Amino acid sequence: MSEIWSKLSEHRRQTSEMSITELFERDQNRFQSFSAQADGLLLDFSKTALDETGLNALVDLAEQAGLASKIEAMFRGDPINVTEGRAALHTALRSQNDTAVMVDGQDVMPEIHQTLQRMESFAGALRSGAYKTVTGAQFTDVVNIGIGGSDLGPVMATRALAPYHDGPRCHYVSNVDGADITDCLAGLDPQTTLIIIASKSFTTIETMTNAATAISWLRAALGDQASGHLAAVSTALDKTTEMGIPPERVFGFADWVGGRYSLWGPVGLPILIAVGRDNFRAMLSGAAAMDRHFQTADFRHNLPVLLGLVGIWHSNICGYNTRAILPYEQRLARLPAYLQQLDMESNGKSVTLEGSPVRRTTGPIVWGEPGTNGQHAFYQLLHQGTHVVPAEFLIAAEGHEAELSHQHDLLKANCLAQSEALMLGRSAQQARALAQSRGIPEGDLDRMTAHLTFPGNRPSITLAYPRLTPFALGQIIALYEHRVFTEGVIWGINSFDQWGVELGKELAVGLLPLIQGATDSSKDGSTLGLVAKLTASTPA
Ligand code: F6P
Repeated sequence: MSEIWSKLSEHRRQTSEMSITELFERDQNRFQSFSAQADGLLLDFSKTALDETGLNALVDLAEQAGLASKIEAMFRGDPINVTEGRAALHTALRSQNDTAVMVDGQDVMPEIHQTLQRMESFAGALRSGAYKTVTGAQFTDVVNIGIGGSDLGPVMATRALAPYHDGPRCHYVSNVDGADITDCLAGLDPQTTLIIIASKSFTTIETMTNAATAISWLRAALGDQASGHLAAVSTALDKTTEMGIPPERVFGFADWVGGRYSLWGPVGLPILIAVGRDNFRAMLSGAAAMDRHFQTADFRHNLPVLLGLVGIWHSNICGYNTRAILPYEQRLARLPAYLQQLDMESNGKSVTLEGSPVRRTTGPIVWGEPGTNGQHAFYQLLHQGTHVVPAEFLIAAEGHEAELSHQHDLLKANCLAQSEALMLGRSAQQARALAQSRGIPEGDLDRMTAHLTFPGNRPSITLAYPRLTPFALGQIIALYEHRVFTEGVIWGINSFDQWGVELGKELAVGLLPLIQGATDSSKDGSTLGLVAKLTASTPA
């Protein structure tokens, strides 16, 4: 593989003077050649500096990394999460057929389908009012208590699918900051609220603490009947029983579903409650369609592979170390946060599968905000700053608000304008002409020309889809999951563990006694100084 890496770097060196606009001038079919589609979802990566030679070398890289066999291994249920000795089978949760998926000699599909049916009948009963509150009323609100993968997916998807939301209102509490649960419960009536405690491990301190607060809140109103308003989602069924959650409202899943890949199963219960069975299944179908595409399309036309290769090109070959997720879709406002966990918890690694240091930079820094809001905040840096940030735009052909289609037109125009502006920039000559047309005095022209010039030649990709339906949402999420996998395979890292989150958790446990008054002089001076500051009595 090192030969291909060298070839790519050399190719970049030789072609770095060639601008993206020149690539378009040289190839009238560039858009067709540097875009791909799957089931209505288009990935346009023509506004990057990649040319045919570069792309072919990247495809070779994926082939040499054994991506094809690694994809097969993942779908087959091999224990590819080697540090935890587990499979990574989130794909089985959305599989639309009965093909057996074997884990430790057992087909896991029957149980997946059975759990989905239990979730559907519970959600259905809650939505119809057949499952009642302890006083015989209808549930109006659902509060999901979870964090990380037990929160971000449902939060993001509930918001994304707002036009399909016809079930009880759904709320989310994640932060151990008491303000989060206080503000959430303040507007709710315990008499008509169901609490879902979602935690793969059922030990996460934030979730267990918030769960205890919520249970006290329910008990204060419902007494011993509080458990009638509780449900749980976990792999640790012994712990849900200990908490007193009736087994008929506990939805289990296996440890081979990673937290950040878990919204397709029981963790997606709030989504199912919000949008109902058909819409939830449509979301699973969208993801399953992307799975089939990932497994069967040749790499040159394979959306997740291409997205991954463009990512490798930008981070490893061009040296751009962040990526901005810019949905022109207000309902995808939480997608950047969701993708931060998916991408950075999966690929923020410095050792290979074998435990040796990685030889190249791995997962980039992922961030973003919806357009057009971001345009009025941080796009200045994207256009004229000293960092080059590959931008990833998402845009639908149409919105759900037929009566506001003129607003959607404006949204689309803005999205396309941004990728165009990043690519074209504004030359010094154009800037000078602009300054002159604005009546800038001759003596100020040079200075103002510099300020009005945009370097351009900044890369972006665009994902375009007909409409943000449940199917499209499923496709988009699965596309990003497989992109992360593709990049992880090329870097030779394990995208399914997260050892880096442990140390902070351990130290927090050790620090709590200090915060509560104990002393420990072995701590560093900064930590001791901050403890003193934070435990001083509140100023008047
Ligand atoms: O802190 C990281 C993490 O372990 C994530 O990987 C996970 O999604 C989150 O915590 C929540 O974990 P759990 O679902 O076990 O409460």
